[in-house]
Formats: sequence, C-alpha cells, structure tokens
Amino acid sequence: MVNPKVSTRPAICYRPIRPSDLEILERIHVNLFPIRYESTFFQDVVHGRDIVSWGAVDRNRPDGRSDELIGFVTARIVLARESEIVDMIGCDSSKADQTLVYILTLGVAETYRNLGIASSLIREVIKYSSSIPTCRAVYLHVIAYNNPAIYLYKKMAFKCIRRLQGFYLINGQHYDSYLFLYYVNGGRSPCSPVELLTAVINYVRRGFKSVTARLLYKNEDTKSTRSRWAKCKENHSLVTATHNKRNHAVQCTPSGSDYDCV
Ligand SMILES: CC(C)(COP(=O)(O)OP(=O)(O)OC[C@H]1O[C@@H](n2cnc3c(N)ncnc32)[C@H](O)[C@@H]1OP(=O)(O)O)[C@@H](O)C(=O)NCCC(=O)NCCS
Repeated sequence: MVNPKVSTRPAICYRPIRPSDLEILERIHVNLFPIRYESTFFQDVVHGRDIVSWGAVDRNRPDGRSDELIGFVTARIVLARESEIVDMIGCDSSKADQTLVYILTLGVAETYRNLGIASSLIREVIKYSSSIPTCRAVYLHVIAYNNPAIYLYKKMAFKCIRRLQGFYLINGQHYDSYLFLYYVNGGRSPCSPVELLTAVINYVRRGFKSVTARLLYKNEDTKSTRSRWAKCKENHSLVTATHNKRNHAVQCTPSGSDYDCV
C-alpha cells in the first residue's frame, strides 16, 4: 500500500532498507517519480551494493503493517574529483581520496508528509556523511518545479549552487534542475583567487561540453530516439511528479545498464 492511512499517533522509526522491502520500495518509487528505475537499482538498494539507504516505518500503523516502508532515502558515495561539483569543494577536491555523498532518491508516502520524516532522513544522510573522514559534502539535484522539496532543502541549510538548464529529459521534454549542496567535515567552497579561477575555468569548460553535447544531441535526434546526452540527462537525478500531476503520465525507461536514472 503506497498511501497508507496514518495512525492517530504515528511512531516513526528509521532503519536500514532490507531485501524484504524490495516490493514496497519499487512501488513507492513508481508512485512518486516520473522516471522508471531498472530493477538492478532496487536490488542494489536492498542489498546495500554501493548504495546506502534508510527507511522510515510507522510502528503504530492501524493496519498492522508496522514494518512497511512509508519513506526512504538512497544515496551513494562518489569521488569528489570525478563529480560535477569538483569545483565547489575547494582546494581539497583534487586529493585522490576526497569523497561526496550524492542523494539518489528521497520520498515519503503522501499520507505521511509534513511530519518531518524527509527532514529526519536527510539528517541521517548528513550524519552518515559526517562520519566519513574523506567526505566533504552531500549534494543532489531537484527538478525546478518541485517547490516542497526545494523548500525542504533550503530549510535543511542546503545551498542552491547551480541551475542546470534542461537537465532532465522526461518524455521528450526538458526541465531545469537545481543543484543543492551541504558541506560536511570542513568542506567549503573555493575561496583563494587561484581556487576561484580554477572553479570558473572548470565551470566554463563544463558549460562548453554541455553545449557541444546538445548540438550533438540535436544532430543525432533524428536518427535515434535516445542520444547519449539524453541518457545522461535522465541519469543521476532526483525528480518528482507528485507536485505536477501532469507529469504523472510520464514514461521513461532508461536503456543503459546503469540504474541511476531518477
Ligand atoms: C519532498 C518530500 C520528500 C518531503 O517529505 P516530508 O516528509 O513531507 O518533508 P518534511 O515533513 O520533513 O518537511 C516538509 C516541509 O516542506 C513544507 N512544504 C510542504 N509542501 C510544501 C509546498 N507545496 N511548498 C512549500 N513548502 C512545502 C512543509 O511545510 C515542511 O516545512 P516545515 O517543517 O517548515 O513546516 C515529499 O513531499 C515527497 O516525497 N515528495 C515526492 C518525492 C520528491 O519530490 N522527492 C524529492 C525529490 S528531489
């Protein structure tokens, strides 16, 4: 059940996501997100393969399903120097072992919203990230129209560092995304003149790559319904359709072997 009845006195507990959560986890993702994940993504989440996750359950649920997920967050560790925000991590970013935690998906069943569950799940991710000595920040993408999520990240003191034009490609339509960042363990944005200059150069270089990729995409579009660029845009991200009901109809099936598609 993806929209369970809330108990009069919900007792929300947080626990790791386990193999027995597989079915409900998939169902909630299908219900909340406009993009379909491959089954390997769910398998990796429940088996903790390269992905860390937390689930929320209501121990007082009136229907007795006191161990069924009503919320979740999934994330993974990435190398700072290989990430798109390498320029935002200051002078440490070039060190080989510096890491970041990227939030892949976050969701709460509709009937359990505004109870602080997503805030608690994000706090778990921040706590976990802070416990990794090499970790410098937690970051994520959010589709530009998702006001509740944007409000939530701002409330949690995440910084909006970028607007990425046309980042998402959903059912043939492009949507912008915001990139939000939360520094941990003394991570910080570049501040010396050299760091700032490097950050600007990297940013411009990335912008150039993106424009080139778009041109490539346009050229290939007539030949193929799925360009590499489009696939890239459908990957790595966190989107929701619930705040824009029109997007519920979206069907997007990632074709690559990787699962990290919204
Ligand atoms: C975004 C989401 C995870 C928030 O979950 P939640 O458990 O309701 O979040 P919390 O209760 O911790 O906090 C919600 C905050 O957003 C506010 N909020 C809710 N709807 C809002 C809206 N339409 N506009 C602005 N703020 C809103 C609430 O008032 C609350 O703030 P407050 O604590 O100051 O009152 C949930 O709405 C969801 O699952 N949405 C669908 C999936 C999704 O969008 N995931 C995130 C993708 S980036």
